[in-house]
Amino acid sequence: MINPLKKAKKASVAELTEAMGSNEMVFQDTKYTTTLAKPSTMSSKEKDVIWELFRLNMETLYKTTGVFPWNPTKKRAELFHRDSRFVTIIPKGGQLESNLLGYCMFRFDTEENLEEEKELVVYCYELQVAKEAQGHGFGRHLMDILEKLGEKWQMQKIMLTVLLANKDAHKFYNKIGFTRDPISPEDEQYVILSKPISIQ
Ligand SMILES: CC(C)(COP(=O)(O)OP(=O)(O)OC[C@H]1O[C@@H](n2cnc3c(N)ncnc32)[C@H](O)[C@@H]1OP(=O)(O)O)[C@@H](O)C(=O)NCCC(=O)NCCS
Repeated sequence: MINPLKKAKKASVAELTEAMGSNEMVFQDTKYTTTLAKPSTMSSKEKDVIWELFRLNMETLYKTTGVFPWNPTKKRAELFHRDSRFVTIIPKGGQLESNLLGYCMFRFDTEENLEEEKELVVYCYELQVAKEAQGHGFGRHLMDILEKLGEKWQMQKIMLTVLLANKDAHKFYNKIGFTRDPISPEDEQYVILSKPISIQ
């Protein structure tokens, strides 16, 4: 009997893609495509573009707050770890290498709650939308996809960590239904947010 976490981690790109539902979204009459990828299915150019969007959005915040060290080698290793899964958004007909608008990186994992029970979670490590594409609903769409995947693989919640200084991200996560998780530490410069996944 294979446990739900093992099953989720073993899910193929095809299975994950099917569970995402439609791979198209429309904003103001323009069509966009979402794609599911694993590091093993991505080219080094695609990985560079993913990294570059993270760098553009986060480098200054990391360096000015100093809460998490700015360590590109370590961060790249985390991003492209074999357990990482990506959902990317590009304009329909475009290419990830030249038209990346946003992505999230997540892993299926477990997290211990305050009762010391292991909960099954979709941990969202990164959510990055290019500056010029922000406010178009892409962030919400990517998080909706994570919820769908979590539901399909019987995860209990979506979790993520966000810097207190990242006020815009806080407003966004609050807007889409995330709240402070009970395991979030007090007196830190970051918080852990979560949102339960309703199993149908
Ligand atoms: C935070 C981020 C992911 C949000 O993505 P986005 O595509 O711009 O957000 P969306 O357009 O999907 O917004 C969804 C909802 O959140 C609201 N929202 C988004 N940013 C907001 C802000 N700064 N203040 C208030 N509300 C905000 C939107 O108004 C929208 O509400 P609506 O659906 O009722 O209109 C994006 O701005 C980003 O990539 N920022 C830089 C990187 C970052 O900080 N990532 C998070 C790291 S933890």
